[in-house]
Amino acid sequence: MRLINTALLFLLLILSCKALGLKPQLLGRHTAQTNSQHTSVSYKTFYFDQQIDHFGFLENGTFKQRYLLNDQHWHKEGGPILFYTGNEGDITWFCNNTGFMWDVAEDLGALLVFAEHRYYGESMPFGEESYSNAKYLNYLTSEQALADFAVLIKALKKTLPGAQKSSVIAIGGSYGGMLAAWLRMKYPSAVRMLFCVSSYGFSWTHLISFSFIGEGLQWLSQEFGLCNPLKTPDEVYGFKAWLQETWVNLAMVDYPYEANFLQPLPAWPVKVVCKNLHFNTGVSDKQLLNGISQAVRVYYNYTGDAVCLNTSQTATGNLGFLGWFYQSCTEMVMPICTDGVADMFEPQPWNFQAFSDECYNQFRVRPREDWAEIVYGGRNISAHSNIIFSNGNLDPWMSGGVTRSLSESLVAIMIDGGAHHLDLRYNSEFDPESVIKTRALEVRYFKQWIKQAATTQ
Ligand SMILES: *[C@@H]1O[C@H](CO)[C@@H](O)[C@H](O)[C@H]1NC(C)=O
Ligand SMILES: *[C@@H]1O[C@H](CO)[C@@H](O)[C@H](O)[C@H]1NC(C)=O
Ligand SMILES: *[C@@H]1O[C@H](CO)[C@@H](O)[C@H](O)[C@H]1NC(C)=O
Ligand SMILES: *[C@@H]1O[C@H](CO)[C@@H](O)[C@H](O)[C@H]1NC(C)=O
Ligand SMILES: *[C@@H]1O[C@H](CO)[C@@H](O)[C@H](O)[C@H]1NC(C)=O
Repeated sequence: MRLINTALLFLLLILSCKALGLKPQLLGRHTAQTNSQHTSVSYKTFYFDQQIDHFGFLENGTFKQRYLLNDQHWHKEGGPILFYTGNEGDITWFCNNTGFMWDVAEDLGALLVFAEHRYYGESMPFGEESYSNAKYLNYLTSEQALADFAVLIKALKKTLPGAQKSSVIAIGGSYGGMLAAWLRMKYPSAVRMLFCVSSYGFSWTHLISFSFIGEGLQWLSQEFGLCNPLKTPDEVYGFKAWLQETWVNLAMVDYPYEANFLQPLPAWPVKVVCKNLHFNTGVSDKQLLNGISQAVRVYYNYTGDAVCLNTSQTATGNLGFLGWFYQSCTEMVMPICTDGVADMFEPQPWNFQAFSDECYNQFRVRPREDWAEIVYGGRNISAHSNIIFSNGNLDPWMSGGVTRSLSESLVAIMIDGGAHHLDLRYNSEFDPESVIKTRALEVRYFKQWIKQAATTQ
């Protein structure tokens, strides 16, 4: 999808069918809730020597994988290990935002471990060079990341006094939730059970995308109050991705209370934002864009402190945008299409070839469209066990989740009124009843499975 109209004036912004920027990831949970009775987050930071390549024997180097640990409530000799399978971003951010783990640690007598995903945060296999070329990026795959987790778990169980008998519960959301589920499937002896939050695949129907025409870069830049005005049509790509990401993120964090997970936002931010949008057909492109720019300001300027909008700062500053783009260009291919019916903008069919070309231009790699399904078994996971899939029905990713229980120990939970991973967040007095029940149910499954594991050992 290289742009297009060099003889501009006529700007074609297509928020189209591509994985770009669509981070499923969002999943950690947030911080500053208004109530203050949270268990405080405190952890020790460690670094583990990981093999750069787990599956071949030529590249024999190692790197330091960061992980965070809290043993304040841990009952050694039997207390479980809650293991957060880091996704695409700085692990401290996920750690700070996964209030659920902090809230249940005491009740379960659990050790908390947050493991960083390679190529994000501080866990860079080739230091500052890690993103410099395709050769170094070659080891950024979910398979390598899972192997990192499995190796780390084995080492922790061996070296931490009292951990030998501990059951390990993998927890994650979004891409991290997929990793948690896959860890259980691929390394069943490492993880006794797993808890995965939403997004086993991805949804396109709820995605809002834009397709609009403007008179030029300058108009757009002014309208959106951009810090760095758009100068070339190529920059529209970045702008487009930024908008798209903002949108999806906004829907994901549609929480019932004021929150500061990705950005400081009002309660039910989608409602607030939608006031600014004109859905009627017949509005001009400019009106449409004006509404969008107002909406975007709700996201970026709720506090009123923003002097201008900075498109280099993605809506999710703690997430690794480039890394996720690379992953979507290799094995995490997630076609995002709009059909013009279930969503509000123009139809854009998924164009694999165009996406592949864009990947090649950027990284010198081409996606393997079916690989993830082959290696992880797609949706037919009936042979597995002890997995909870929780989904929020307000989450734009929901329709990609596992939403129906497949067996007694493959449990799907639907949270009415829940946005992306609401259940992974801290308890809040504003939580809908459904979330409170969900968390309690999740803990009940944990306890049941821990007990079963103890008796079969
Ligand atoms: C790792 O590979 C390098 C170059 O291929 C080699 O010189 C070195 O001896 C190897 N190290 C180990 C521990 O195998
Ligand atoms: C997470 O919390 C710790 C301790 O409060 C803090 O030092 C760190 O900056 C936080 N990290 C992020 C990304 O918010
Ligand atoms: C952010 O809000 C403040 C207060 O309403 C306003 O003065 C400022 O222009 C806004 N910034 C942007 C970029 O819209
Ligand atoms: C925009 O964000 C980038 C990345 O954080 C930063 O380097 C740059 O200084 C920011 N620009 C402005 C005008 O704030
Ligand atoms: C799913 O996998 C199981 C075995 O793991 C197999 O028996 C079943 O036929 C598969 N179902 C589908 C729809 O492919």
